[in-house]
Amino acid sequence: MLLQASSLLSLLFLLTTAAHGGDYSRADFPADFIFGSGTSAYQYEGAAFDDGRTPSIWDIFAHSGRTHGATGDVACDGYHKYKEDIGLMVDTNLEAFRLSISWSRLIPNGRGPINPKGLEYYNNLIDELISHGIQPHVTLNHIDLPQALEDEYGGWLSRKIVKDFVAYADMCFREFGDRVLYWTTVNEANVFALGGYNDGIIAPGRCSPSLGTNCSTGNSSIEPYIVVHNILLAHSAATKLYRKKYKFTQNGFLGLNVYTLWFIPYTNSTEDVIATQRAKDFYVGWLVDPVIFGDYPDIVKKNVGKRLPAFTEYESKQIKGSVDFIGVNHYTTVHIKDKPSILKMNNRDFYDDMAVKIIYDQGNEPTDEYAIMPWGLYGVLEYLKQVYGNLPIYVHENGQMTRRNGTLYDKSRVEYLRAYIGGMLDAIRNGSNTRGYFAWTFLDCLELLDGYGTSFGLLYVDLDDKNLTRYPKLSAHWYSNFLKGKSTSSNAITEVGDNAFVPWIG
Ligand SMILES: *[C@@H]1O[C@H](CO)[C@@H](O)[C@H](O)[C@H]1NC(C)=O
Ligand SMILES: *[C@@H]1O[C@H](CO)[C@@H](O)[C@H](O)[C@H]1NC(C)=O
Ligand SMILES: *[C@@H]1O[C@H](CO)[C@@H](O)[C@H](O)[C@H]1NC(C)=O
Ligand SMILES: *[C@@H]1O[C@H](CO)[C@@H](O)[C@H](O)[C@H]1NC(C)=O
Ligand SMILES: *[C@@H]1O[C@H](CO)[C@@H](O)[C@H](O)[C@H]1NC(C)=O
Ligand SMILES: *[C@@H]1O[C@H](CO)[C@@H](O)[C@H](O)[C@H]1NC(C)=O
Repeated sequence: MLLQASSLLSLLFLLTTAAHGGDYSRADFPADFIFGSGTSAYQYEGAAFDDGRTPSIWDIFAHSGRTHGATGDVACDGYHKYKEDIGLMVDTNLEAFRLSISWSRLIPNGRGPINPKGLEYYNNLIDELISHGIQPHVTLNHIDLPQALEDEYGGWLSRKIVKDFVAYADMCFREFGDRVLYWTTVNEANVFALGGYNDGIIAPGRCSPSLGTNCSTGNSSIEPYIVVHNILLAHSAATKLYRKKYKFTQNGFLGLNVYTLWFIPYTNSTEDVIATQRAKDFYVGWLVDPVIFGDYPDIVKKNVGKRLPAFTEYESKQIKGSVDFIGVNHYTTVHIKDKPSILKMNNRDFYDDMAVKIIYDQGNEPTDEYAIMPWGLYGVLEYLKQVYGNLPIYVHENGQMTRRNGTLYDKSRVEYLRAYIGGMLDAIRNGSNTRGYFAWTFLDCLELLDGYGTSFGLLYVDLDDKNLTRYPKLSAHWYSNFLKGKSTSSNAITEVGDNAFVPWIG
C-alpha cells in the first residue's frame, strides 16, 4: 500500500547545515569518477524457478523458514522487468549499475554446460544498460552459491570450489567480458563467512549449535576461516585466469568486495586503542591483507592459531596483488572496547578471537535507521589509503535503511546520502583513490537480513500491486538532481515541483 504523500509536497526541504564535503556538486568529483546504484541477483530477479534456474543456497535458506518467510521467488521480478528498470535508471541519471549474476541461472547445478535462457537474460540486461550509456559493474557471487555444490561437497567449505568457481568465472569473462570491464569476484566475503558460518543468520545458515541460534550443524570456531580461505583462493585463481586469458583483449579490472564498519575506540585507553586496531585487522585485514601483502595479519594468525588455514608459498604469491581495486560496502560506525579475558575461552568463534566488545551507536532494533556518521566512510577510505598503498576503491554499497512502509518522503535517506557522498569527497580531496560510488539499493527488493521489512531503495516497489509498480522516492529525485549537476545547497524538494511523487514511468 502507498501512503498518501501529496500533503508533503508543499514542504520546503533544504539541507543547509555545514556538512562533510561542504556544498558540493557532481563537478567536484574527478571527471572519470562514476556514480551508480546497485542490487544483486537473488534480491532483484525473482523468476527463481524459471527457464532452467536451479536453487542457490539462498533459495534453500529462505524456504527453510529462517527468514520469516521472505523469499526471492518473485522479489522485484527483475528477470521480466529489467527494461522498465533501466528506463528508471536513465531517469535517475545513473552512470553505472552494479548487478550480480546468478550462478545457478547461468550454469544450473553449478558445473557443466551453459543455460541458454540464462545467457540470454544477462546478455539482454548488459546490452540494455550499455545502449543507455550505463556502465555495468558485475559481481560473480553475491551470497548465492548453487545449492548443488553445497550438497555435493559443502560449497565454500571445500577446496573443490576453486575449480568450479574458476570455470564459472571463465564462462562469464568469455560471454560478457567484451562489454563488462568491472568484475568483482565475491561480495562481502567477510560478512558471508560470519553470517553464514559463525552466526548462522544468512545462507547457508551454519554455526556451532551450542554458540549460535537455530543452527543444526556447523562449527563457528573453524568454518568462517576455512570459507574465507577458500574464497581467497578462488578469487585469486579467477584473477590469474583473467590476466592470462582475457586482460590483453578485454582490458577489464577485477576486485574483491569487503564489508566495512568504521571502528572508533570506546575510550582513549591504550587497551581500547589497540583493540580497535585489532578489530580492523580481523574485520578488514582478514581479506585485504592477503590480496595486498599475501598473508593474514599477524594478530589474526596469533589469536586464531592452528584453526587458521595457512597459505603455501605458491598460494601466497598468487594471492598477493590479485586485485585491481577493492570494493567497499559501508553503512555505519561502531565503538570498540577491549575484552581480553575472552581469549582464555575454548571453542572461540570469530568475535571471541577478535577479543573486543562492539558497541553500536544507534539502537539495536533491526528497523532502527543508521545514525549519520559520514566520518566513518571517510575513515575507512583514509585507512585503506594509508595502510594498503592507495589502490583504487569503488564504494559498492552505502545507503540508509528505513522501514519499508510505503513512504516516499525518505528525508533521512537524502540526508544520509548527501552526508556520506560528502565524506567520500573529503577523502578524495585528501588523496584517496576512490573511483566510484554505488548507492544501495536502486529498488526496494529483498533485503538479505530483513526480507521485506526494511528497505534501502531509491525507488519503492509496491508488493501489494501485482504489477510491482515502482515509485521514485525523494532520494531518487535528489540523486537524479545531483547527477544532473545540481549543487547540494540548491537540491531542494521544492525544485522537484508537484511531480515529486509521480512515477516517471507508469
Ligand atoms: C570445532 O572444531 C574444533 C577444531 O577441530 C574442535 O576442537 C571443536 O570441538 C569443534 N566444535 C564443534 C562445536 O564441533
Ligand atoms: C529460532 O527459530 C524459531 C522458530 O523458527 C524462531 O521463532 C526464532 O526467532 C529463531 N531464533 C533466532 C534467534 O533466529
Ligand atoms: C579521544 O581522543 C580524541 C583526540 O584527542 C578525542 O577527540 C576524543 O573525544 C577522545 N575520546 C574519548 C572517548 O575520550
Ligand atoms: C515509515 O517509515 C519512515 C522511515 O523509517 C518513518 O519516518 C515513518 O514515520 C514511517 N511511517 C509510518 C506510517 O509508519
Ligand atoms: C590526509 O592524508 C595525509 C597523507 O596520507 C595523512 O597524513 C593525513 O592524516 C590525512 N588527513 C586527514 C585529516 O585524514
Ligand atoms: C497493471 O498493468 C496492467 C497492464 O499494463 C494495467 O492494465 C493495470 O492498470 C496495472 N495495474 C496497476 C494497479 O497499476
